[in-house]
Amino acid sequence: FFARPWNFLRSVPSIETLPPIGETEIAFAGRSNVGKSSLINALTGRIGLARTSNTPGRTQELNYFSSGAGVIVVDMPGYGYAEAPKQLVDSWNQLIRAYLRGRVTLRRVYVLIDARHGLKANDLETLDLLDSTAVSYQIVLTKADKLKPGGLERVVEETAAAIKRRPAAHPTIIATSSETGLGMDRLRAEIAALAV
Ligand code: GTP
Ligand code: MG
Repeated sequence: FFARPWNFLRSVPSIETLPPIGETEIAFAGRSNVGKSSLINALTGRIGLARTSNTPGRTQELNYFSSGAGVIVVDMPGYGYAEAPKQLVDSWNQLIRAYLRGRVTLRRVYVLIDARHGLKANDLETLDLLDSTAVSYQIVLTKADKLKPGGLERVVEETAAAIKRRPAAHPTIIATSSETGLGMDRLRAEIAALAV
């Protein structure tokens, strides 16, 4: 499934320009700079497929990627980037919320959390939105390479405890690193299973 070549399909700057309902969609959401685009590159094995940057606010639209095998992977703008102009932040937030709330083919949202920082207030808002609309989601810890092994286990446990009573949350937390490849096979297997 992930052995097939992945390609960029389209960029969606506003909710009005979403393509008609088609294949199953799987989205990557999270704070600015958490590593959404990097994770998509690591998963697909195509460096530069999704554009990444050291500076937050790199991804500004919904970007659709496909390998033609029945699943579309959607890279999303990040939330919580305080330094961007307010108008821009407002429009990203509107796009994110409208998409997460109302896309019938959206099968699973991977909510990315920086393993060093854990769940923040705006992450909890996103989880609230997904719980209230019953969109299935799973937490993925990113940048695990930046933690000591013991530290990673602790944040996995803490995060699992924090989401325990959330109705739409997958109970398992996946720790990943786009640098070392940690967690990639597991995430690939889960996404492939969602395609059917
Ligand atoms: P926006 O599109 O701005 O919301 O950001 P994003 O979530 O797509 O983050 P992006 O993938 O652009 O990565 C942000 C920065 O984090 C880049 O400098 C990446 O190289 C770095 N980064 C991403 N994943 C990892 C990781 O697993 N480990 C380490 N050490 N750095 C990472
Ligand atoms: Mg990005």
